[in-house]
Amino acid sequence: MCGIVGALAQRNVTGILLEGLRRLEYRGYDSAGVCLRDEYGQLQLRKSLGKVADLEAKLSTEPAEGLQGIAHTRWATHGVPSDENAHPHMSGHITLVHNGIIENHQSLREDLQAKGYEFASDTDSEVVVHLVHSLSTNGHGLVDAVSKATKMLEGAYALAVISSEEPEVLACARYGSPLVLGVGIEENFIASDPMALRQVTDRFIFLEEGDVAEVRRSGISVRNKQGEEVSHPVHKLDRGHDVADKGRYRHYMQKEIFEQPEVVAATLAGRIGERTVLSQALGSLAQEILPKVEQVQIVACGTSYHAGMVARYWLEDWAGVPCSVEVASEIRYRKTVVRPGTLFVTISQSGETADTLAALRQAKKLGYLGFMTICNVPNSSLVRESELSLMTEAGPEIGVASTKAFTTQLVALQLFSIALAKANGLPSEREAELVSALHQLPKLMEEFTDLDALVQHTSEAFAEKNHALFLGRGVEFPIALEGALKLKEISYIHAEAYPAGELKHGPLALVDADMPVIVVAPNNELLEKLKSNLQEVRARGGQLFVFASPKAGFTSEEGITVVEVPDSPESLAPILYTVPLQLLSYHVALLKGTDVDQPRNLAKSVTVE
Ligand code: G6P
Repeated sequence: MCGIVGALAQRNVTGILLEGLRRLEYRGYDSAGVCLRDEYGQLQLRKSLGKVADLEAKLSTEPAEGLQGIAHTRWATHGVPSDENAHPHMSGHITLVHNGIIENHQSLREDLQAKGYEFASDTDSEVVVHLVHSLSTNGHGLVDAVSKATKMLEGAYALAVISSEEPEVLACARYGSPLVLGVGIEENFIASDPMALRQVTDRFIFLEEGDVAEVRRSGISVRNKQGEEVSHPVHKLDRGHDVADKGRYRHYMQKEIFEQPEVVAATLAGRIGERTVLSQALGSLAQEILPKVEQVQIVACGTSYHAGMVARYWLEDWAGVPCSVEVASEIRYRKTVVRPGTLFVTISQSGETADTLAALRQAKKLGYLGFMTICNVPNSSLVRESELSLMTEAGPEIGVASTKAFTTQLVALQLFSIALAKANGLPSEREAELVSALHQLPKLMEEFTDLDALVQHTSEAFAEKNHALFLGRGVEFPIALEGALKLKEISYIHAEAYPAGELKHGPLALVDADMPVIVVAPNNELLEKLKSNLQEVRARGGQLFVFASPKAGFTSEEGITVVEVPDSPESLAPILYTVPLQLLSYHVALLKGTDVDQPRNLAKSVTVE
């Protein structure tokens, strides 16, 4: 999704801006642009459809340099991807980049047109630059104009603005879209994600909703929504939050799949003893809240939503606590009934997903018992706005299709479920059994990633297919959903997932020799029922690909390919069976030649509604 970088230094900042954009590339975008104030006080604007590399190519033939500049990667919302619609946008001496969506852009556009402003793009963002221009006075007052403009905007924004007439100032504002300030020595920066600035600083100030900041080389001043000067803490981020390179891997997604043994171990570290989940695992506040929890409401989007669906089985089975799971974009606009004692839990890799954040804010008005987030990014908006946070230790996830973030979410959710079950009287033998399984997880994860060559071989059957059906039962149903999501995200093959028991209520009509049917079949109490469902597929000539352990008793034969996976404790099956499905979609995408890490039309962090 859109990315912002800005810099004000005593050296040329073109390289810093471009490196920042490169570091944001993984989020998904379709055009890029940069604007620098040159030594003659002129604004030098360069924009390009396509990748940051295309923008760089443009800059090599039409160089632009300056000590002050802003840059942007755009993911189209209003207006097609094009040079004209790319940011920065300009209005006279002012230039601006914007993340978010301005909902009242139409009426603002009409007012500005009536004042004589001409529009060069179809974007909602261009409205903001003309608005700031119309409110600015010659030679000074940029920050004031930005502040006044924000009061007239409806919707979400992160803004970075410069004026050719104010070489000492970079103005920025945040509401509904993230923005951080990077603190340097006699130079300061802004970005939509700290990752963009790690090459220049490790010190960051996170802006709050409604803040307007005046960034100068010598210092930063921030005013809140009420216009009062505020002093936010400076956070030092360690290298663990840096973007690692791909190492020996061809793609980030591949690297992230193979990192899973390590990151699930990191997520468990310090949280489990030999036989118990340690009381400090969820923090001291959790000790107070958990005994009062009578119900859990989980809210998330995309892959994180699937993690929530898995957790429902664990929470109801182990803790005996009713649990509902809903996508954030739905619950935020629905009239909900909140029963006393309900804990509101968000799950998010980025901690910045607009709908999840909005759902949390909405929930805060509704009488929930408390708010917890399971998140991968410290200091993200969801973490800052939740009372309890349980961090996943996946490290930066760059591939748009989420892999290690998902499995670490499942680990965190398992810890949460066991902790809640304990508060509700889970027998210690059962806890010891679940915890002993968790101790085996990193090693088993490694054994499941070792299936790579076998899965690669299996993937050849999919490259020419247009559709695929994933089946699972019980807790494996959300794993089937996640497998289908991975396949469609990166290979563009249409994939659907069904609980196997629903097969004859519709999807069976689609089954023929051209429809591969992928089955998640661990050895559990639903196995025999699942086997009957598979007979229904075979009887219609469907091609089955069954992921099962030897104990499940499947053998490969005409129409059935069995991908044999290691035997594992039942409680770990959803986490482990995810791995071969990730590998399957990865290898199918390789065969199809798609852009694995940045699939078309998708964004890593969806910061607009
Ligand atoms: C986007 C990403 C998905 C992710 C979803 C939710 O769609 O492409 O991989 O699952 O957002 O993101 P979150 O950061 O809240 O987990």
